[in-house]
Amino acid sequence: MTVAYKRFGFVRILSIKNVCRTHKRFHCKAPIYSPNTTVLGIETSCDDTGCAVVNGMGKILGDSLFSQNAIHVRYGGVNPVVAHELHRQNIELSVDEALKQANLQITDIDAVAVTTKPGLLISLQVGVKFANYLARIYNKPLIPIHHMEAHALTVRITQEIPFPYIVLLISGGHSILGVVTDVSNFILLGETLDNAPGEVLDKVARRMKLKNIPEFSKLAGGRAVELAAKNAQNIEQFKFPLSLAKNRDCNFSFSGLQDSFVRKLVQKEIEHEIVGDGIIPEFSDLCAAFQIAIAEHLVHRTERAILFCEKMNLVDRNKRNIVVSGGVACNNFIFKSIEFISKKLGYSAYRPPSNLCTDNGVMIAWNGIEKLKDGCSVLSKINPEDIEPKAHVGKNVISQVKDANLQVKVTRLKTLCTYLM
Ligand code: KG4
Ligand code: ZN
Repeated sequence: MTVAYKRFGFVRILSIKNVCRTHKRFHCKAPIYSPNTTVLGIETSCDDTGCAVVNGMGKILGDSLFSQNAIHVRYGGVNPVVAHELHRQNIELSVDEALKQANLQITDIDAVAVTTKPGLLISLQVGVKFANYLARIYNKPLIPIHHMEAHALTVRITQEIPFPYIVLLISGGHSILGVVTDVSNFILLGETLDNAPGEVLDKVARRMKLKNIPEFSKLAGGRAVELAAKNAQNIEQFKFPLSLAKNRDCNFSFSGLQDSFVRKLVQKEIEHEIVGDGIIPEFSDLCAAFQIAIAEHLVHRTERAILFCEKMNLVDRNKRNIVVSGGVACNNFIFKSIEFISKKLGYSAYRPPSNLCTDNGVMIAWNGIEKLKDGCSVLSKINPEDIEPKAHVGKNVISQVKDANLQVKVTRLKTLCTYLM
């Protein structure tokens, strides 16, 4: 254990409020929120070990990220055992680095926020174990965090967006449309029926062997596809169908698009007699056409979400805002497509800065701050049963969206490419 923990190596007595008999743990007194409150955030839900210190004003005092992306690219996807081992190796270093940047000791921190759901079980366990350790040794109150809720609220660290707002969460594990009513209340309008967009972008990048091109070799699949798409010359040669065109809801499906992509790729590989590590010459065109297909699907569902929210009065007509977050929100073409449809309907689209769209410790610390400000309760220990690899987000109104049966005209984005790229 390094200096940050050792220096004040004494144990304070928790100011205990009550004992939760069902979960056999203490609910301890939450620190009183002030602009000087500091929260340490710990994120280990997938393949990034992210730790950060954020204060009550949303100032990022320290931010450390140990990304495992370059390693998992070699395995062709996130390898849970490797992810677990790397989290174990890096968690303490990452916390130390965040504290060092903040020029604080662990004893100065008011609370520890940690991701408890959803994510890879053995990855989540590493973060929670370390948070429990800090709580036990340094009497730190704990705030359990829902990873997707944290993605949905991150934007408020840099921009004052009032509740309620519509949110589109697109990442390697999720595709969600919802409404953020307040810090702890969400409405689920739609979710993916199969894969997530980031997952599909990672798979197609891998299948296309983009990592064999040196400039893409260390990039996340989605980023590689975005960069490759910039050099497209003839996207017309690849046509993709619109997913779930006939389903009048806000759910998503990306597996059909992925199958269609692979069929087109195989056809071209045969045509050019590509073997082994070779890459089809039209890879930029295929990437661009695929990126457009993903964006058109996201735009189509988002437009229906806006119409539904207006019909059901779920949003304030004077504050029409939509937030896009999660790793895929880094994609400029996809974000600008959502911005385009939002503007058309009188909405402003926002996203966090790129480094806060992908997984990070800041979003967890910030969610901790927002929860404290909102008067949440805190824990002295997080139990194993609190860690949930699969966890729903908010109140599910998917069937009401279906019942509303709202028709949405398809927005084709190909013609807008130069404007959106
Ligand atoms: O939110 P995130 O960091 O982790 C999860 O919670 O899943 O998202 C990671 C995903 C990866 O699938 C990655 O390929 C994708 O975000 N991604 C992108 C871009 N940058 C990262 N997808 C499209 N365009 C990008 N520029
Ligand atoms: Zn994420």
